[in-house]
Amino acid sequence: MFEVRPSSNPEEYGLAVYGIGQYVGAPPTEEQIGRFKQVLPIEGMHAAFEDGTIVGGAGAFPFELSVPGGVLPCAGVSVVGVYPTHRRRGVLRALMDVQLQDVHERGEPLAALWASEETIYDRFGYGLASWAGEVRLARVWNSYARPFERRGTTRFVAADEAATLFPPVWDALMRERPGWIAKRGAEGLLCAAAPDGTGYAFKVADGKLPRAVVLVDQFHCHLGTGRLRA
Ligand SMILES: CC(C)(COP(=O)(O)OP(=O)(O)OC[C@H]1O[C@@H](n2cnc3c(N)ncnc32)[C@H](O)[C@@H]1OP(=O)(O)O)[C@@H](O)C(=O)NCCC(=O)NCCS
Repeated sequence: MFEVRPSSNPEEYGLAVYGIGQYVGAPPTEEQIGRFKQVLPIEGMHAAFEDGTIVGGAGAFPFELSVPGGVLPCAGVSVVGVYPTHRRRGVLRALMDVQLQDVHERGEPLAALWASEETIYDRFGYGLASWAGEVRLARVWNSYARPFERRGTTRFVAADEAATLFPPVWDALMRERPGWIAKRGAEGLLCAAAPDGTGYAFKVADGKLPRAVVLVDQFHCHLGTGRLRA
């Protein structure tokens, strides 16, 4: 079976966070761990071990939650992930069991989560509390993480013009990107996103959707052949 306990040092913490982190990026750096543990304390991150090796993690932010009549401590469950080498063997169940026991022992009467995949958690006692949430950020508090440089222009083109303009873009991406699907023709959605997100081009040609398509004038492909001009 799997041993589950709170992580006890930054190294364990980073490996437990990486349980979910690996599905979206690289292992956390020391700097990232330093920042993250300010909001999710080291002992709030449970780690699952197999023979001393971490194979998953689940975190609980120390929240206070408003309830009718007051405020209660609440475990804000998040950062849940099991290493791909160990999925479907009960690691999550072991994590959820110990995490909830510890939450109870800490005297937190509530645990709540915003799940990416909500179908997982009802078996552990979670249920639907809200259909939607909305967060508004004043413009003064938000900005692009990287400077935004406007590049290229967009215009509508007719479907027949798109039929000649788009395939070269698609073909270039096919050559550069493993996993790209060759798809042309009258049906379906033809969609190409620039690897660095700077531009896109799409064509809708199922007969029901708009006849016009949007074309990005300059299509930047940074993975190989440089700039394509469609
Ligand atoms: C989802 C994930 C955490 C499950 O971990 P796991 O160790 O494979 O799960 P377990 O083997 O402990 O399964 C526990 C229970 O959850 C169920 N379950 C597991 N993954 C599920 C999924 N994706 N959807 C629905 N149920 C799931 C299992 O069937 C099992 O149910 P049972 O005990 O009633 O038979 C793991 O697959 C993972 O890390 N996935 C990628 C990251 C992710 O999706 N994290 C969750 C974000 S909300």
